[in-house]
Amino acid sequence: MSARPQSGVGARTLRPDARSKVLGDAMYLADLRAPQMLHAAILPATIASARVTRLDTSGARGIPGVAEVLTSKDLGSVNRIGLIYDDQPLLVEDRVRMAGDRLALVAAESPELCREALEAIAVELEALPGVYDLSEALSPSAPKVHEAGNLVREFAVVRGDVAAARDGAEILLEQEFKIGGQEHAYLEPQGCLAVPDHDGGMRLFSSCQCPFYVRGAVSRALGLPLGKVRVVQSTTGGGFGGKEDYPNEVALCAALLSARTGRPVRLVLPRELDMQASTKRHGMLIHHRLYASADGRIRGVEIDILVDAGAYAGLSTVVAERANTSAVGPYAIDHLRVRTQVCYTNNLFGGPFRGFGAPQVTVAHECQMERLAKEVGLSPVQVRRLNAISPERPEFSTGERIESAERLSKVLDRVESLTRSKNAQAVAEAGDRFRWGTGVAVFIYGANLHHGGQPLDRGGALLHLQADGSVNVSIGVTEMGQGAFAASRAIAAEALGAPADAVHLTEVDTGLVTDSGPTVASRATLVAGNAILDAASQLRARLLPLAAELLGAAEKEVETGPGGFLAPGGRFVPFADVTALLYRRRIHPAALGWYRSADRIYDPATGQGQAYMFYTFGAHVTRVRVDTWTGKVDVTNIHAVHDIGRAIHPPALEGQVQGGAVQAMGWAIMEDLLLEEGRLKNPSFTDYLLPTAVDAPNVEMTFLEDPEPLGPFGARGIGEPSFIPGGAAIATAVGHALGIHVSELPLTPERVLRMLAREG
Ligand code: MOS
Repeated sequence: MSARPQSGVGARTLRPDARSKVLGDAMYLADLRAPQMLHAAILPATIASARVTRLDTSGARGIPGVAEVLTSKDLGSVNRIGLIYDDQPLLVEDRVRMAGDRLALVAAESPELCREALEAIAVELEALPGVYDLSEALSPSAPKVHEAGNLVREFAVVRGDVAAARDGAEILLEQEFKIGGQEHAYLEPQGCLAVPDHDGGMRLFSSCQCPFYVRGAVSRALGLPLGKVRVVQSTTGGGFGGKEDYPNEVALCAALLSARTGRPVRLVLPRELDMQASTKRHGMLIHHRLYASADGRIRGVEIDILVDAGAYAGLSTVVAERANTSAVGPYAIDHLRVRTQVCYTNNLFGGPFRGFGAPQVTVAHECQMERLAKEVGLSPVQVRRLNAISPERPEFSTGERIESAERLSKVLDRVESLTRSKNAQAVAEAGDRFRWGTGVAVFIYGANLHHGGQPLDRGGALLHLQADGSVNVSIGVTEMGQGAFAASRAIAAEALGAPADAVHLTEVDTGLVTDSGPTVASRATLVAGNAILDAASQLRARLLPLAAELLGAAEKEVETGPGGFLAPGGRFVPFADVTALLYRRRIHPAALGWYRSADRIYDPATGQGQAYMFYTFGAHVTRVRVDTWTGKVDVTNIHAVHDIGRAIHPPALEGQVQGGAVQAMGWAIMEDLLLEEGRLKNPSFTDYLLPTAVDAPNVEMTFLEDPEPLGPFGARGIGEPSFIPGGAAIATAVGHALGIHVSELPLTPERVLRMLAREG
């Protein structure tokens, strides 16, 4: 075996989706059309809290070329679309609860006619008091977003005796953190094309992460069996969590209009509406109290977290569950009380976003670690080592013994060597105008879905061998730009012995591949990979005897090699020769592989038990330069250290780490959701400042490869870990540079200047 394989796991092959995306040939949702297709549009509410006093669509219905106009009155019980809580209508009933709430849907022959129809709808809204300040959401005097009050759900972690820990502590560090949300800013906006199918069913093309969610939502709304709703994922231009649940809403709009008109309907959200109405990373308020002894050992921690869900619960409780479990990071803390409260407000709709609640809590715990280090005179690495979970003290916040904790000490070794250099010091230049600093953030990530989501944790892969040696692989998880196809192709090629360029991936088609749950939680490689391995082993059992026959060898002598099969004495038969024989013998050429995780035990009341399938660790070491005159932060260098298990497709892995680091930088210093009573004042890529290639820092990486026993070829997943420490390392770096305690994100120039005026 060569050190640099040309094919299969670890090979630096061109991503299968790269060429069409780079050349602009890929067909995204807005490029798709169907014969007789209608265009669709949404009439959004422009204020966030109101009662509807008039909604008259007769003007729109009378316009020639307008095929359908829908309001909630047309939908009945189908209008209720809440995923976990029954709190959300597809179309506003009588109360508007967020700006961007849908008042009406139209379908017409052209986009222009859609706009004309929207303008012809007469709307009157009577403004009501709203909840725009998260810190007020649970106060008894706050207006109620829903009748039952503004608390959606509460999570807790309870361990030991935190009051005793506080009383015995020599150091008490108390800090309130105010962490902003984030727009996903996928390049392709949300969209769906619904097409009536031949047998009274419906076919949908959806830009999404979770085609099986879309299928479920449309099946419920149209009263169709799951088997009659076929969802085909269209080439998806980014998701980041924003296309986890929200595409259901887009698909429901298109599907209902299509069902009513009997014609194909395409809906693509305009960017402004997408930014206003679709889900966002949650803003959080985190009240953090850390109790330690004078030597820097943490005795106990108390954390109260408020999560801004916006007007509907959506998946906010699921996100909050990860925040709750991750709130103390990778530290062994015997006395612990965490309370995470998910709150309704009339702000933006909170939802999944890369990291799923962990990035916000990581900012809080890592800023507190930084403060503790300073307080007791330890280095950032020393204070973390002293408190990190380890083989001697392996208990995580859930009470689980993390048997792999020695991998965290390897991460810390690397961080130590990165921070020891002269270049990591806090220095000033140009008089005192520019200050340099280095930040560290360490994290633990529970791989895959939390215990609460475990019923969804299964997946399939269909491997179909062709006579000429090419292979079709249909996986149940989605490629959304992150590299799922590249990783799956490498795994399939390696497991079968096929050349990588003979393996062809298809976007998810719910009519073809088994329900594999959502493509979230960094689980794509894990789920697709394990299912592919299962299918490949079924196929290998059929291929090996044939290969042995062709090689003139005993079956047990035959090995799977790159591009074919090997026998002693350097004998080799190409993969395609074996599949040709398979077809001549009429042997079953396809296999469906299956993956499911082992059942876990967990108590939601105390947050104790097996929260996740396994854990991964990592850290960022980040260098910043802060201009104290303007408040502008420049991130010049990020070194990402990740405990990845195994690099399946190195270029895709590096792409994830680059992308996660830069996206986290955008969140930490540039991206600001400017709200005025729930209305986004900067709903465009012009006014919502995103990092560009020019802003991107130098991202370096260290990958620690200790294979994961539960992962395909040892892989652990990187999508969310790549983001999680990013904001925290920038916050601690800015604190280091300026000699202050950072407690707010994003660190826009205005906030940096305010912090300097307050503390500097
Ligand atoms: Mo994700 S944020 O688990 O799609």
